[in-house]
Amino acid sequence: MTNQQIKINFKEYTTLKELNTPAYNLCLEAVKALKNSHSPYSKFRVGAALRLKSGKIIHGSNQENVAYPSGLCAERVALFYWGASHPEDPIEAMAVTAATDEFELLQPVASCGACLQVMAEYEKKQNKQIEYLLFCQNGPIWVIKGIESFLPFLFFENRLLKGESLKIELNNPSAL
Ligand code: THU
Repeated sequence: MTNQQIKINFKEYTTLKELNTPAYNLCLEAVKALKNSHSPYSKFRVGAALRLKSGKIIHGSNQENVAYPSGLCAERVALFYWGASHPEDPIEAMAVTAATDEFELLQPVASCGACLQVMAEYEKKQNKQIEYLLFCQNGPIWVIKGIESFLPFLFFENRLLKGESLKIELNNPSAL
């Protein structure tokens, strides 16, 4: 047995002004996206903005529902809109921010597992990494390149395609 370690790299900035201009502008778009958050239940607004290769910006915000599980996170609202309307225009970067009047946010919102899985799907579909910019009003800005930094053990279907021997083993467990 050996202990293994996985390291991930990300950049931390103290202020938005330290970012390059396209990243800074995308963060401002995520702030704009907060406006359409429908979050009467959590009172926690989340805004997401995607910058596409063409320069087009797509906004998403969390959309809650009185039947709670019917709501959707800001990231997936933006990503599914992209998938439904601009799939040929690759996503270069996605900025995510959050705001609430209930308490002070000191750390960026890190996307939930379901959103990460959707990010993974589209990164794979467009065959190009996305730059993720996570920030909040009174905390650092995290810049993370590529979904595998979030999900190093990500499940990809190539694990199924190359799994001929695994299939055999699963069909015949005593052969293991
Ligand atoms: N939420 C997002 O929109 N994105 C995240 O990454 C985490 C959580 C939303 C869902 C819900 O409307 C509210 O934040 C509180 O969980």
